[in-house]
Amino acid sequence: MKRDRLWYPRPTMPPTDAGPDSGAQYDRFADIYGVWTDTAPAAGANQTFYCQLYNETAGPVVELGVGDGRIAVEAARQGAHLVGIDASSRMLERCRTRADAAGVSERLALQQADFRTFELAAPASLIALPYHSLGHLTTLEDKRRAVERIFGQLRPGGRFVFDDFVVTDQRRAHMRQAQLRAVYQAPDGTDRLLWVTSLLDDSAQRITVITWEDTLDAAGQQLERRYRKLELSWLTPDQARALLEAAGFEIESCWGDFDRTPFDPVEAEEQIWVARRPHAGSQVA
Ligand SMILES: C[S@@+](CC[C@H](N)C(=O)[O-])C[C@H]1O[C@@H](n2cnc3c(N)ncnc32)[C@H](O)[C@@H]1O
Repeated sequence: MKRDRLWYPRPTMPPTDAGPDSGAQYDRFADIYGVWTDTAPAAGANQTFYCQLYNETAGPVVELGVGDGRIAVEAARQGAHLVGIDASSRMLERCRTRADAAGVSERLALQQADFRTFELAAPASLIALPYHSLGHLTTLEDKRRAVERIFGQLRPGGRFVFDDFVVTDQRRAHMRQAQLRAVYQAPDGTDRLLWVTSLLDDSAQRITVITWEDTLDAAGQQLERRYRKLELSWLTPDQARALLEAAGFEIESCWGDFDRTPFDPVEAEEQIWVARRPHAGSQVA
């Protein structure tokens, strides 16, 4: 494996501070994650896409950033065996509970580790990083470390599949709005309102997602408001391609949505990359 193929263009992205501790961020986010994904427009489509991918892959399948098992447990329920990796102990706890409830715990091996340093017991056939989660590494250097790590943990011929945001003017405007995301009842019986907005820093390609959750009493009076935030960043398609190629991947496909429509910079809703670790001897010399 050639780690530094200097004749590839090095992707450039404005330097930023070191990323936040993503495990800790999600430890604080874990109890609203279910409501968050249940009300996210992309969540249904990405779940179907990744479940199909896991189930059609022969050999070890790994989901990085497995979270509460939203995708992995459903894939296991459909028959897949997989390894789920996440930095957040509270998300992993939720994943375990979900797998137990679905009766698929024996198909799901969970590991607490970081995208940049995880180590598998056996090389994987597929490593997936769903739901814009590479974005939680907010510097290009950290993303590069993760992509190189993933390359090193795949068997020759194995695939890395991930999706990232496509940040258009329309999406920027939508994300900047303050939106009522969900109205629901918490397990303690209180009524809750979940709100969201995002701050976008275009020059640093950073997104700060800010949520606030209001707890109401039976008369509709606000008892409490709790704020949480998530730090993310996005890659341009050129940066994503350059990162993959610099790590040694061959790019198989880039799709613009979860129906596998070829990527078109104007129409695309997502950038979904399928990259393969070449077999020995098939790499560019
Ligand atoms: C957007 S959630 C995705 C969860 C799940 N894959 C899904 O689609 O619902 C991102 C997950 O990645 C985890 N995560 C973020 N940064 C990480 C890192 N550097 N290493 C390991 N896990 C990380 C978070 O704890 C969180 O569970």
